Amino acid sequence: MKITQAEFVISAVKPHQYPEDALPEIALAGRSNVGKSSLINKMIQRKNLARASQQPGKTQQLNYYRINDMVYFVDFPGYGYAKVSKTQRAAFGQMIETYLQNREPLKRLLLIIDIRHAPSKDDQMMYHWLKHYEIPVCIVVTKADKIPRSKWAKHVKMAKETLEADPSDPVVMFSSETGIGRDELWEVILASIESPAEASEPAEPLSELSAE
Ligand code: GTP
Ligand code: MG
Repeated sequence: MKITQAEFVISAVKPHQYPEDALPEIALAGRSNVGKSSLINKMIQRKNLARASQQPGKTQQLNYYRINDMVYFVDFPGYGYAKVSKTQRAAFGQMIETYLQNREPLKRLLLIIDIRHAPSKDDQMMYHWLKHYEIPVCIVVTKADKIPRSKWAKHVKMAKETLEADPSDPVVMFSSETGIGRDELWEVILASIESPAEASEPAEPLSELSAE
């Protein structure tokens, strides 16, 4: 995927701040520090466009990045940060649920998990929300460079079992260090944002319509 344009657009707190140009959106969710921003940077081949939050757990915004005038990446705040208050946790849950329930341009959510750790309770809850709202998911298992390739399959199996993952959900191994998985993830994204018109069969020729 050749990146010709990539820009940060807005940190949205309320739905009225979400962009209104109806470009498809790909959201990213995962634990704080799992590697969401690094993954975005790798995907768009920029060192530092998506930044790690200065105060982990404090940010409650959705960060919008516009790529190639074709798609938005929507970086969710990381969850599971220990020092977050109950009120902040509730606000986070509300914001995410509002987005997931109502966001028509959302085409797929990338659930980012760390290959070294079993998915947390928060990961499981996020996954179940996505299934509940019937939002397409791609499970991205990142930091693959952190363990030997011979152990990948075992860790991925464990992650899928913990999430009770639907076998039809795509799973991509990824590393922001080595770039492994980048092409595969772009393929998943492009397939997800294809407009139905392009994806469907060509319309029947007019001559075959019966005249009534
Ligand atoms: P929050 O925004 O705080 O939720 O974090 P995040 O999920 O955006 O994580 P971020 O991309 O800031 O990465 C957290 C740390 O993990 C950084 O020190 C990254 O350099 C490191 N990291 C991210 N991805 C990888 C990876 O694929 N491999 C390795 N070895 N390190 C990674
Ligand atoms: Mg981040």
